[in-house]
Amino acid sequence: MARILITSALPYINGVKHLGNLVGSMLPADAYARYMRARGHEVLLICATDEHGTPAELAAAAAGKPVAEYCAEMHEVQKALGAGFRLSFDHFGRSSSARNHELTQHMAGRLYEAGLIEEVMERQVYSNADGRFLPDRYIEGTCPNCGYERARGDQCENCTKQLEPTDLINPRSAISGSSDLEVRETKHLYLMQSKMRGKLAEWIDTKIDWPVLATSIAKKWLNDGEGLQDRSITRDLDWGIPVKRGASVWPGMEGKVFYVWFDAPIEYIAATAEWADVNGLGDAAWERWWREDRGAEDVRYVEFMAKDNIPFHTLSFPATLMGTNFDGAEPWKLVDFIKGVNWLTYEGGKFSTSQGRGVFMDQALEILPSDYWRWWLLSNAPEGSDSDFTWEGFQGGVNKDLADVLGNFVSRVTKFCRSKFGEEVPAGGAYGAAEEAVIADLSARLKVYAAHWEAVELRKAAAELRAMWVVGNEYLQSAEPWAVFKTDPERAGAIVRFALNLIRLYGVLSAPFIPDASEAMLGAMGAEDAGWPEDVAAALSALPAGHGFKVPDNLFSKITDDAREEMAARFAGA
Ligand code: MF3
Ligand code: ZN
Repeated sequence: MARILITSALPYINGVKHLGNLVGSMLPADAYARYMRARGHEVLLICATDEHGTPAELAAAAAGKPVAEYCAEMHEVQKALGAGFRLSFDHFGRSSSARNHELTQHMAGRLYEAGLIEEVMERQVYSNADGRFLPDRYIEGTCPNCGYERARGDQCENCTKQLEPTDLINPRSAISGSSDLEVRETKHLYLMQSKMRGKLAEWIDTKIDWPVLATSIAKKWLNDGEGLQDRSITRDLDWGIPVKRGASVWPGMEGKVFYVWFDAPIEYIAATAEWADVNGLGDAAWERWWREDRGAEDVRYVEFMAKDNIPFHTLSFPATLMGTNFDGAEPWKLVDFIKGVNWLTYEGGKFSTSQGRGVFMDQALEILPSDYWRWWLLSNAPEGSDSDFTWEGFQGGVNKDLADVLGNFVSRVTKFCRSKFGEEVPAGGAYGAAEEAVIADLSARLKVYAAHWEAVELRKAAAELRAMWVVGNEYLQSAEPWAVFKTDPERAGAIVRFALNLIRLYGVLSAPFIPDASEAMLGAMGAEDAGWPEDVAAALSALPAGHGFKVPDNLFSKITDDAREEMAARFAGA
C-alpha cells in the first residue's frame, strides 16, 4: 500500500467552468484518485478555487458585487458543481483562506532570507481617472504585434504574444475606459528564478518517466532566452494576499498583494492544512503529506493540469519550494509525476462564455447525469493531442458504449434471470470451458487496465474497460441462456450466475469512470464486498447461488437524433 497525494489545477473563481476545464484537470484527477483508492492505497485528493488576480476582480465588477462576496458565492457554486460531477475531493479549498495567507507570506519570507527575492523598480501604467495602477488585464489597447484592438496588458488574445502593459498602443483602462494614463514608477518584488536554473534542470533530468508534454515544455522554458526569467511576484491590487514578510510589514510594499500565480500553487499545501482543520486534525496530519522531514518522504505526489499550466508547475512552483528549503530546514514535497493534457475544443472551435458557445458544467448536469459526461470526456481525453467535443461523437459514445454495451448487458441478464429463476442467483451447474475462456481473457485485460492506470493513460484505460464490457456481451451472445434454457435449464442457470457475477465485477472496475452507475450495479447485485478483484476466477464466484439481487432501473438512456440536434443548436453560440 502506498500513499498518493493528488492535486488538480485550481479552477479560477471567475465563473462556471466548461467541459474543457473539467477534463483538463479536475475530472482526470478524480478518476485517478478513485482508482488508487479502490486499489487500497491511502489517497488524498486536493483542489480549491483560485481566487486572486485581475480575473477575479473583473468578474466581480461585472457581476456588480464586492470581490470578497463574489468569490464566496462562486466558490459555493463551483463546489456544488464538483459534487454534481462526483469529484471526490478530500478537500475543496479556497486560495483566499487564512491558511494560504499565512503560508504564502511565510514562504515569501523564507525566499527573501535565501536571497532569492529582490526589490525592483518597475514602470507601471497608472490611471488618473481610476486613481490606481492598471496591471495585467486592467488595461486594454492595440497589440503592437498584430494590431488587434482589444489586446490586454498581459497578453494579446489574438496573436497570443505576451505583453507588458506599457507595450500597448492607445492604451485605456478596462475599468473606466479612460485614456488619461501615465507611467509611474512602483517597486515590486522579483523572484530570482534564474538563480535556480541549475537546480531545476538537474531535478527535471531525474523525471524520466514524465509524459513528453511536461518535460518538453519545461525544458523549452529552462533553455530558451525567454524561459525562467526573474519574475515579479507582486501586484498593485487590493484583492489578494498582502505582501508581508512572515507576520510583519514588508517595507515599501504597503498596499500591494502577491501575484496570483505565486500564491495559487501554495494553496495546494494550504488546502491540505484546511482539510486538517475542518476534520479536527492537527498540523501533523497535513504535514505528513507535504514535509519530507515529517512523514512525506514516501508519498507519491501526482499533479493534474492543462498544458498552459505546465511551466508554472515544472519550474515556478518547484523554484518556490526549493528556494524555501535553501538551508535544508523545510524540505517540502516536490511533484513526482505531472499529468498534463491538451485542449478540448467544442465543435471545432473554442468554448466561449461570452458567446454562449459550448457546454458549461451547470448546463451539462441539467441535460444528463454526470456519468454520461464523465465517460465521454475521460474516454476521449485530450491526451496525445487536442480532442474535439462534437454532439455526434458524444451521442455515439453514450449510445454505443454505455447504452448498447454495458446498460444492455445488465438489463438483459437481470431481467432474464428474474423471469426464469426469480430474483436470486441461480444454482445451475459448474462453470465450463466458455466461462474459463472469459476468465482468462478478463484476467489478461485486467492487468493491462491496471498498467494503464499506473501510467495515467486515461483513454487507454477507458478502452480496456470498454473491451471488458464487450467480452461479457459476446459471452452472453454466444452462450445464449435463453435458448439453452429450453433444453438444459441447469446449464442456463450457470450461465446466468456467471453473468450476474460479471455485473458485480463491472460495478467494481467501472467506478473510476462512472461512479453512479457502478453504485447502481453493485447495489442491485447486493454486493457488500466491492474490493478490487485480485483473482478474476474468485471474483466471478463471489455471488453464490441463492444470493438475492434486484433488477436495476435502466442504467443509461440513448440520446436521440432529435435531442442531439436540439443541443447542437442550443450551444452553438451567438
Ligand atoms: N487557475 C489556473 C488556471 O485555471 C490554475 C492554477 S493552478 C495552481 O489555469 F497551481 F496555481 F494552483
Ligand atoms: Zn496581437
